Amino acid sequence: MLRLIIASLKSSYVAQQRILTNKMLWFSFVSLVLLYGVMLIGIYITASHQGLSCPDWPLCPNGFNFPPPKYFFEHVHRLLAAITTGVILTSAFYSVKKAKNVRTTAVAAGIIISVQIFLGILVINKRLEALLVATHLSTGVLLFAMTLMTFLSSYRLANGNSKI
Ligand code: HEM
Repeated sequence: MLRLIIASLKSSYVAQQRILTNKMLWFSFVSLVLLYGVMLIGIYITASHQGLSCPDWPLCPNGFNFPPPKYFFEHVHRLLAAITTGVILTSAFYSVKKAKNVRTTAVAAGIIISVQIFLGILVINKRLEALLVATHLSTGVLLFAMTLMTFLSSYRLANGNSKI
């Protein structure tokens, strides 16, 4: 009888964990897509030498209006970075509260993206100093790796593999 109760408690706990990690799966998937976009645009900005086309911070001279072609990509890079930060920080808080199994990498991503935003500001203020641009790129890669790990861990947990 006791075994039966324990087994049913265990299975309802596992089912609840699956629902929670399913949400983390979506959070991390959306984060991955957004991050890919931010990085793609960032690398395009570097490759096309548009890094200082928008010299102000946080907003470009157009403010909240539609950006002119001169700094269109800079504007989109910052806008997408802000949205991505919102999603990644939300998933970090969510993981701490509800999906503890994947919180290590989700919280790491939350910390890394905060550093990345700060680096982005420095890249502009220090007028594309080479070491800062290199750190901005490698921090972006590290951030992508953390988010990918959160996604893979959530995927395995949501599909019933609890060995992570
Ligand atoms: C989610 C946050 C962000 C990510 C993942 C990210 C990622 C990247 C990447 C991968 C590059 C290309 C670097 C290279 O090719 O060497 C880049 C370039 C750049 N990013 Fe970001 N970025 C983020 C946020 C920001 C923010 C908030 C700012 C400014 C406020 C910013 C400013 C820049 C600038 C100015 C460049 C061009 C650098 C150059 O021309 O050499 N980034 N970003």
